[in-house]
Amino acid sequence: MQEVYTRFGSEIAKGLKRSTQAQANTKCWPTYVQDLPTGDEMGKYLALDLGGTNFRVLLVTLKGHHDASVDSQIYAVPKDLMVGPGVDLFDHIAECLAKFVAKHDMRNAYLPLGFTFSFPCEQVGLKEAMLTRWTKGFDCAGVEGEDVGRLLHEAIQRRDDVEIDVVGILNDTTGTLMSCAHRNPDCRVGVIVGTGCNACYVEHVDNVELMDPAYKRKQKQVIINIEWGAFGESGQLDFVRTEHDRKIDEKSINRSEQLFEKMTSGMYLGELVRLVLVQALEQNVIFKLSSKRQEYADILRNNVDIFETKHMSEIEDDTFPEFANTRRIVKQLFGLEKAAVEDCQKLKYICECVARRAGTLVAIGVSGLINRISDRRVVVGIDGSVYRYHPKFDAYIRETMHKLVKSDKEFDIMLSEDGSGRGAALVAAVASKTK
Ligand code: BG6
Ligand code: GLC
Repeated sequence: MQEVYTRFGSEIAKGLKRSTQAQANTKCWPTYVQDLPTGDEMGKYLALDLGGTNFRVLLVTLKGHHDASVDSQIYAVPKDLMVGPGVDLFDHIAECLAKFVAKHDMRNAYLPLGFTFSFPCEQVGLKEAMLTRWTKGFDCAGVEGEDVGRLLHEAIQRRDDVEIDVVGILNDTTGTLMSCAHRNPDCRVGVIVGTGCNACYVEHVDNVELMDPAYKRKQKQVIINIEWGAFGESGQLDFVRTEHDRKIDEKSINRSEQLFEKMTSGMYLGELVRLVLVQALEQNVIFKLSSKRQEYADILRNNVDIFETKHMSEIEDDTFPEFANTRRIVKQLFGLEKAAVEDCQKLKYICECVARRAGTLVAIGVSGLINRISDRRVVVGIDGSVYRYHPKFDAYIRETMHKLVKSDKEFDIMLSEDGSGRGAALVAAVASKTK
């Protein structure tokens, strides 16, 4: 833990410096979001949320007094669009946006839009964001190196049936930080533990060499998108990575990339459990009394993603000796009627090891950030399906944070409410305030 903590800290320091950023895994991109919300923001905004479990279009009404309401609609992103030509993806986004606007009878209303685009981007301002690499199973041609704000704008123009002004592009971690800061002014860190894993935090502009100096005169602080999912790509995590981690990486579409993410996020945790379980079956240390052990191993081996990350949450929620969820999942996977208590305990233990390790790694990162920030009290805003639905993830994180956060600091964790909606609207609102 101490070793990862130290390596993580030096990687962030590298990411913030012009001379070393190219070698850093954690790119520490300035987001150009410099004003945190006051709670007084007002107005109607559109928002798009791409990159989490769901693609959503949202209408957000900021009402002042730290209050907001959100109306949203989920739209599917078919698998082939995730790896097809980028133009098709952006046309699809524009089409969903047009449908949403028509449904809400807002065709003639001019609305500013905040685009939560949850992938690593190099920003040169609030409205220009160059995708540096796809992550999380997306791999659309012709988008890397391009400004996603422009691609969205062009797709909207091609349709010619809606008038929308893209006023800000933000990462989901920024949205999370903003939505939490809207409710709690001590929030300085935003974290996502969902399909992917990443964090952002509020840094002093003097420490951010990669930012346009003109912006440094406006405000003393800026939100930094760390892109910590990429940590470990120079081998810093090799001393703790297992054969299962290596297998996950080898089979992924972004080999050798996002290694920290592959140990911590929802897209991979269930897969890790599946691989450990296959090994346990092969070594005859689980389901020992079942004659069908070979068959179970084959089912798991031949069906990638059959063990879902949500199963981990359900299993860790179980109580001894009933193991109601575990037994249901085992039945669903293998057709085994009533798994033995001992096997349920073992499966639960595997899930716990995988989730606890993820929680520990996330906490190492979060603690490093809290210790970096000069404020004595720091609130951490978190979102994402793993954090939200896993019954013990919060406890795993806190356990490690209590060990690593300096004793003169005080911290708390808060669950974000609609970072991509409220957060995007707040970025848009704050942007128009400071125009
Ligand atoms: C949502 C946020 O709740 O969490 C999104 O509003 C974010 O912006 C998402 O991308 C991340 O979690 P998941 O589990 O959907 O990837
Ligand atoms: C991936 C993306 C990052 C995002 C995170 C959580 O790590 O690269 O931008 O914040 O997933 O969605």
